[in-house]
Parts: sequence; structure tokens; C-alpha cells
Amino acid sequence: MVKRLKVAVLISGRGSNLQALLDACADPAFPAEIVRVISNIGDAYGLERARKAGVETLVIDHKAYPSREAFDAELDKAIREAGAELVCLAGFMRLLSQGFSEAWNGKMINIHPSLLPSFKGLHTHRKALEAGAKLHGCTVHFVTPELDDGPIIVQAAVPVLSDDDEDSLSHRVLEQEHKAYPLALKLVAEGRVSLEGRVAKIALHADPGTRLLNPAG
Ligand code: GRF
Repeated sequence: MVKRLKVAVLISGRGSNLQALLDACADPAFPAEIVRVISNIGDAYGLERARKAGVETLVIDHKAYPSREAFDAELDKAIREAGAELVCLAGFMRLLSQGFSEAWNGKMINIHPSLLPSFKGLHTHRKALEAGAKLHGCTVHFVTPELDDGPIIVQAAVPVLSDDDEDSLSHRVLEQEHKAYPLALKLVAEGRVSLEGRVAKIALHADPGTRLLNPAG
């Protein structure tokens, strides 16, 4: 039997990326298992997804805490109590304090809906359209105290089409998010990701081998 890395997933909303991780972890051969899902929003739909998958859930309402640090301390406690070794942020809409980020340095990953370092922050699809980008996508990266800035583990690119709007583009990116996040978790859980300064080096079996060109020419 494979030793499975224990993971806590932090969410704030619909949890489609959480679902992709739950689905991946449903395979006993997958090298990670989700031990707790924590939301700062009581009615986040992702909590329902976790319950359906038989995963323990917890709500920690940030509004009940006097400061970011106090909220983060409670989060930290809840993650450690569950025995988690890695934290996955999946649409978790809170900025984290420097202390929390440092405590989980190298042990916390996030998915961001752009090809970082382009388009940090919110409204990434709008920003990509406004910039006239021809390729857009998503990034799974380690979390550092700077927003959307840590070492990159996996990226997936999609073409931006001439008739795209924010909806159509976000849908195309989201489909790739659901592939990229389980892949990144698998690589981390298998111990194939090592940090060299601000670069994550990936030990792989196969080279991706192809290029993505848009327009195709
Ligand atoms: C995703 O687009 C993710 O990249 C971003 O927030 C969104 C969360 O969506 N960080 P979901 O809750 O996983 O469906």
C-alpha cells in the first residue's frame, strides 16, 4: 500500500478544484489523501462536496476573529490537529499572514487562474483579454508571503480565442485547473518536487514534448 500524504484543503466557495482533488484522492493508489476541508464561509458549496466524499469539514469564520493573525492561528491549529502535512488552497479568498505563510513554507500550494507571473490578483481572465494575450491558463505554485508569487509547480495553457469573453475563457481555463491541481499534488506527494531557491525543480518520467502555438499559423 502506498504511503499517502495527508492534506488539508482550504476553500471559500464552490469548490470545483476541491472536487478534482477529492476525485483524484478517491483512488487508493493516489499518493495523497484529504484529511480535512476547512472553509471560512459557512455555506460554501465545497463543504457539501467534502461531506459527500466522506471528508471531515470545519468552518472557521474569519469575521469572528479580531485580526488576521488570530484567524490564521486558529487555521494553523485546525490543520495540525487533523494531522495534515500539506495545505492546498483551492479558491480560498483570504490573504494569509506572513507568519502563517512562513510556518507552511514549502508545504502549502495554491492554484491561480493565470500563467504566472502574468496577471496576479483578481479578475485574471479580464486582464488577459484586455492585454490581448494569445495564451492564458493556470498555475499551481507554492505559497509565499507575496501574493501569487511562489515557485511554480505545474502550468497549463489554453488559447485565447477571438470571440472569447470572461465566461468562455474562464471555463476553458477551469477545465485545465482540474487537471493541473491533481497533477501538482501527485508530484509533490511523490516527493518529485524540490525547491532550489525560488524555482521548483520537477523530476519527471516524461518530457511534455510539444509546443502550444496560437494562432496556429
Ligand atoms: C479558481 O479559478 C482558482 O484558480 C482560484 O479560485 C477559483 C476557485 O474555484 N484560486 P473553485 O472554488 O475551485 O471552483
